[in-house]
Amino acid sequence: MTRFSRIAGTGSYLPPRRVTNAELAAQLAERGVETSDEWIVERTGIRARHFAAAEVTSSDLGAEAARHALEAAGVAASDIDLIIVATSTPDMVFPSAACILQAKLGIAGCPAFDVQAVCSGFVYALTVADSMIKTGGATRALVVGAEVFSRILDFDDRTTCVLFGDGAGAVVLEASDMPGILATDLHADGRHVNILCVPGTVSGGQVLGQPLLRMDGQAVFRLAVGVLESAARATLAKAGRSDADIDWLIPHQANIRIMQGTAKKLKLPMDKLVVTVDQHGNTSAASIPLALDAAVRSGKVRRGDTLMLEGVGGGFTWGAVLLDY
Ligand code: UT7
Repeated sequence: MTRFSRIAGTGSYLPPRRVTNAELAAQLAERGVETSDEWIVERTGIRARHFAAAEVTSSDLGAEAARHALEAAGVAASDIDLIIVATSTPDMVFPSAACILQAKLGIAGCPAFDVQAVCSGFVYALTVADSMIKTGGATRALVVGAEVFSRILDFDDRTTCVLFGDGAGAVVLEASDMPGILATDLHADGRHVNILCVPGTVSGGQVLGQPLLRMDGQAVFRLAVGVLESAARATLAKAGRSDADIDWLIPHQANIRIMQGTAKKLKLPMDKLVVTVDQHGNTSAASIPLALDAAVRSGKVRRGDTLMLEGVGGGFTWGAVLLDY
């Protein structure tokens, strides 16, 4: 019998501090940085984001999201036999956020590791978990996207600091006789390392280089719409499905204009697009599982729906996961 993987439950967590565009603009004005609610809404669709308190880490947010996903799946933490955390803002250089999260969930023994693919991290992590489940290396995986991007923002750079937020989302992915995940498609092109990066590093007990996010927004924008269409088409072709089979498009939540452009290329009506960027901002690897969980809990996404999850971000990386929920 063919072994598939399917999502048994979803969960998410946002730190309580919600910062509207107007509040952020007022704080930035105190530093002499000029922006406005109008500019942010018009160019990105973002209205608010959440920022974690100084002592809160990605594994803290991820553990909360994981607890909600375990509860939704009706699965005990002790039943998990694989943990993958997608993050670009891990708690430490090492060990992984996944190991720290594992301890916070009170379990030990199963493999736990981080995946670093920036805003594509969750689709990368889901693909790895799907492969391990299909080949018998795991039965019940916890796949988490967790970020504290506020830590790596340059609040003197208005072209980036208004875009990002903190949060976490998680799914329990388990072995099943029925799909589940239908097809996956991952890519990277390291020639574009410099268009979106945090170039700093730790060396000799010091931070060398600039440890804050740098982005050529227009270059990222141009690449994003094209690759999101091609990755979606690749998964549809692999699964023998067509655009019309997609019930919900859940892309990385970076900019409403990129998301709408992708939906248009896939000939999907805008009401099939799950949008949380307005309330969460860009939470990098956390954005897709946060949007998925919001759509499940609001009753939009139902069992049996076909979902197209799509990530794109630093690396340059991109990818898609097509699944029956
Ligand atoms: O998660 C990884 C994926 N990341 C992304 O997908 C980001 C992709 N890129 C984008 O979403 C967009 O390129 C941005 C939202 C980053 C920028 O939007 P844009 O429409 O490409 O604006 P722009 O860079 O062309 O800037 C237009 C103007 C500039 O002023 P001038 O040169 O026309 O006078 C900017 O200086 O807007 C100015 N500007 C701002 N004004 C007010 C840039 N940032 C701001 C700001 N507030 N926060």
